Order: sequence, then structure tokens, then C-alpha cells
Amino acid sequence: MGDFRLTRTLDENAAEAALRTDVREGLTGSPKSLPPKWFYDARGSELFEEITRLPEYYPTRAEREILLERAGEIAAVSGARTLVELGSGSSEKTRHLIEALPALDTYIPVDVSESALRGAADVLLSDRPGLRVHALVADFTRPLALPPTPGPRLVVFLGGTIGNLRPAERAAFLASVRAMLSPGDALLMGTDLVKDEAVLVAAYDDARGVTAEFNRNVLAVIDRELGADFHTADFAHVAVWNREQEWMEMRLRARTDALVKIRALDLVVPFAAGEEILTEVSAKFRQEGVRDELASAGLELTQWWADREGRFALSLSVAAAAAATEDADVREGARRGVGTAPSGAGADVTAA
Ligand code: AVJ
Repeated sequence: MGDFRLTRTLDENAAEAALRTDVREGLTGSPKSLPPKWFYDARGSELFEEITRLPEYYPTRAEREILLERAGEIAAVSGARTLVELGSGSSEKTRHLIEALPALDTYIPVDVSESALRGAADVLLSDRPGLRVHALVADFTRPLALPPTPGPRLVVFLGGTIGNLRPAERAAFLASVRAMLSPGDALLMGTDLVKDEAVLVAAYDDARGVTAEFNRNVLAVIDRELGADFHTADFAHVAVWNREQEWMEMRLRARTDALVKIRALDLVVPFAAGEEILTEVSAKFRQEGVRDELASAGLELTQWWADREGRFALSLSVAAAAAATEDADVREGARRGVGTAPSGAGADVTAA
């Protein structure tokens, strides 16, 4: 293969220890919960790929539509020589961006799945043999040390995965992204938008039951990795819209009373019939909210592009204009990308 490097910041032991802690805390707490990152073993990643092709699951298609339409514009505004992708998965949508960035030198995909990183790099390098790919096996919710590569940098966080974080976690995450950005760098982020409840519920409870199987897969992961005896069939998939929080919730509901043994934790978890485990929140956003959250992290929203149906949006933001005490270079850099107000159907932001 071409110029490929892979750095592991997460060793097997650390991942296993994190799973133990998360499962113990999540299943001994009340209400019970599990973090969504444990869905994605090989089977879970496969099921998620299948979800993205379901008729009900619009976010992937809506985001791809925006990326295809705006790749040239995004590339021109960012002029990126390094592209960092947080939670890159199969890098499928990123390919359009890479194609639009002729000056791109290095692509840094960051994901917890080493197999996904290797697979994506194979495909990308056969398309673009000159590209340097430096994959990082890492949990992107943790502060990341990036290798020194040429700027400007464009950090992308696609798919609406920011919605898996609670507001306080989002604030910490966005602040850590802000810390990765130098003047002239930018963040491109995908956010799913608030919409009709029926459309949202269908997207998380598809007719073929693929999402249900994806949801239950987290129990199979715990059975395998921690020697538990969840019978996945004993839990029903539940998808509900939380109107107050404006997020979708996925839960697993025990069909009967049960005692689940988790050998590696030396723990028995009691379930009453009807009791639920909250396995995922997937927040939906409005432009004002995204702008405010970015601003709180020191990021200034400069572009907002929605798909034609207004279901999903990509935002571009830069390190916020520095206060008067900071030097002029910082302010100049922060201003890059502002002032190229795009035209067309998208709900564009007017530059502040
Ligand atoms: C990959 C986190 C963006 O929240 O929509 C898909 C995961 N969960 N169906 C999402 C998911 C249920 C997805 N993200």
C-alpha cells in the first residue's frame, strides 16, 4: 500500500477496562444505561452500514447530498492540506471531500475500529496513491494529540454523531476540537435537524428491524467480551422522541423479570419486566443551537448548508475572532472562510 501509518492510542486492555467500567456503572445505576460506542464491534459496524441504506434512515443520504453539492465550496474555503476526520468509519462520504481537495497532503482518520481504518485507507489510497494516510485508533471524545502535518487543517465530524453526546459532553468535545485548530483551520460538522416526530421515530425503528438488531447487538458484545448471559431476544427495541431534550432515545426493554450474570464483573444485574436500558441518545439540532454551542467553545459559525428537504445540515466554523488583547494574526486567521457567502437553496449563514 502507499504512504500509510497507523497509531494506536487505545490498546486492547484500555478498551476492555473502559467497557468494564461503563457496563458496571451503566447497569448498576438507575435508570440503567449503556454508552452507544459499544455498539460498534464488527457486527455492529456492519449493521450500522445496513442502517445507512434503509429507506427510513435519511441522515446519511441527506448529508451525502450536501457534501456532493458543496464539496468544491468547502474545499475552496478551507484550502486544507491536512484533513482530520473524527469517527471516520468507512470514510465513504469523505471521499467526495478528498477528491475536491487537490492540495491535500495528509488524511488523518480517527476511529476506535482498527479494521474500519485499514479498510478505508485501502480504498482511499488506491484512488489517490500520493496521499499520506495517518490513521489513529483513538476515542475521539478524548483529547487527541495530532501528528505535525502541514496546515491549513480541516477537522470533519460527520454523520450527526455529535448528537450521541449530552450537552455537557458536547461542550467539552467542542472545546477540545477548538484546541486542535490554529488560525486558518476549520471544523466541518454534520448535525441532524429537529423535524416531524413520525419521521424521526421511523428512522430509529425501521420496518425491517435492522435498527432493533443493531440496538440488541450491544448485549451480544457484553455477552462475548464480559462473559454475560443476556439473551438478546428477551429485550425489545424501543425508539422514542424526547420532546423536552430534542433527542431520539433508543432503549432495550426487558420482556420478563430476569437475573443477568456478568462473569467478568462478578455481578448479577436484576431486571423487572418492562425495565429499560437507555442505549443511545441522538440529539437533533436547530441552527441557533449549533451556533450557540460552537460560540461557547470559541468557534464561530461561518457557513450553514442544509439538504434540499431541510433534514440535515453541515456547518463550517473557525476559531472565533480573538479578543482585542490577542494578536492580529489570530484574528486574521479566524476570519478566513468568512465572506464567501454561498448562494443557492441552502439556508446560508450571513457572516457576522
Ligand atoms: C452514527 C450516531 C449518527 O445517531 O443516528 C443509527 C447511530 N443509531 N440508528 C445516529 C444510529 C440508530 C447514528 N450515529
